[in-house]
Amino acid sequence: MSEIPQSNLALDVRVAIKRFDTRGIHIPLPWSRKKQDDKRVVALDDLSFTVARGQVFGIVGSNGCGKSTLVRIISTLLYPDGGSISVFGHDVVKESETVRRLINRVSVEASFFRKLSPLENLMFSGQTYGLDRETTAARTFAILARLGIDEEQVLRPLEQMSRGMQQKVAVARGFLTSPIVLLLDEPTTGLDPASKRQVQEFIMELHAEHDATVLLATHDMAEAEKLCDQISIMAGGKIVASGTLPELLREAGLTDAGHGLEDVFLQLVGHALDEEPEDKKADDA
Ligand SMILES: Nc1ncnc2c1ncn2[C@@H]1O[C@H](COP(=O)(O)OP(=O)(O)OP(=O)(O)O)[C@@H](O)[C@H]1O
Ligand SMILES: [Mg+2]
Repeated sequence: MSEIPQSNLALDVRVAIKRFDTRGIHIPLPWSRKKQDDKRVVALDDLSFTVARGQVFGIVGSNGCGKSTLVRIISTLLYPDGGSISVFGHDVVKESETVRRLINRVSVEASFFRKLSPLENLMFSGQTYGLDRETTAARTFAILARLGIDEEQVLRPLEQMSRGMQQKVAVARGFLTSPIVLLLDEPTTGLDPASKRQVQEFIMELHAEHDATVLLATHDMAEAEKLCDQISIMAGGKIVASGTLPELLREAGLTDAGHGLEDVFLQLVGHALDEEPEDKKADDA
């Protein structure tokens, strides 16, 4: 991939490292011959990639490959153990406040006040981001109208809405603060095909309107093919290949028509879209 000029560099992730200590509390059981597990999980392992302004950039990988960890670190919710990560030149650790103003995140299980209505949830969210009441109200009404939520639903508790609709409200909330980088962590996982398509279309519409850069972490290959300009394949906490779909197909030697991202993934990563293999879990050094 060609180098992105600094002024156009939305996300710069350089040799990011994140380990989790999974030892926990060890209570030896009288009948157990097992020693305490001395294991650490290496969730991000010297992971590097760059995202240009305005791109919809996909990170695809199996369950447990480290996608959410990466998204949490970029969102300033977790500290990395090594490397440097910046959003438009601002370091996520040293300038976390600035980064938080530039980004927003939509996760697979969006957290809401479920007894409150979509209107109340979005009003609350906008104001916690420092938007004034009038601006928040105007944007909230405009964005909820776009979702096709009728007046009655806007005022009813969110828990009464379908999962698909709730996820659309989550995406709407993600764009409410006009983030210049939007982080989407499995935004359509668990939705039926129609709801999935609606949420995907909504993401693309809002992306086009807001001039935002989108990082989409997903294990849904079809979704990445459909939405992303650039895709990085992640496995074992590393990026194993990056490029546009045609570039990835070439890299995997899949030049026949009819091949897609899933074939590239299986070719380059070598295991099906299931849990990461156990040998990724490194013994404590
Ligand atoms: N807080 C934590 N404590 C210990 N281990 C963790 C923690 N968070 C994540 N991990 C481990 O780090 C690895 C990467 O997890 P992560 O949730 O980032 O993967 P993922 O790609 O988002 O998976 P999924 O597709 O299932 O959401 C996994 O082995 C996971 O068990
Ligand atoms: Mg995840």
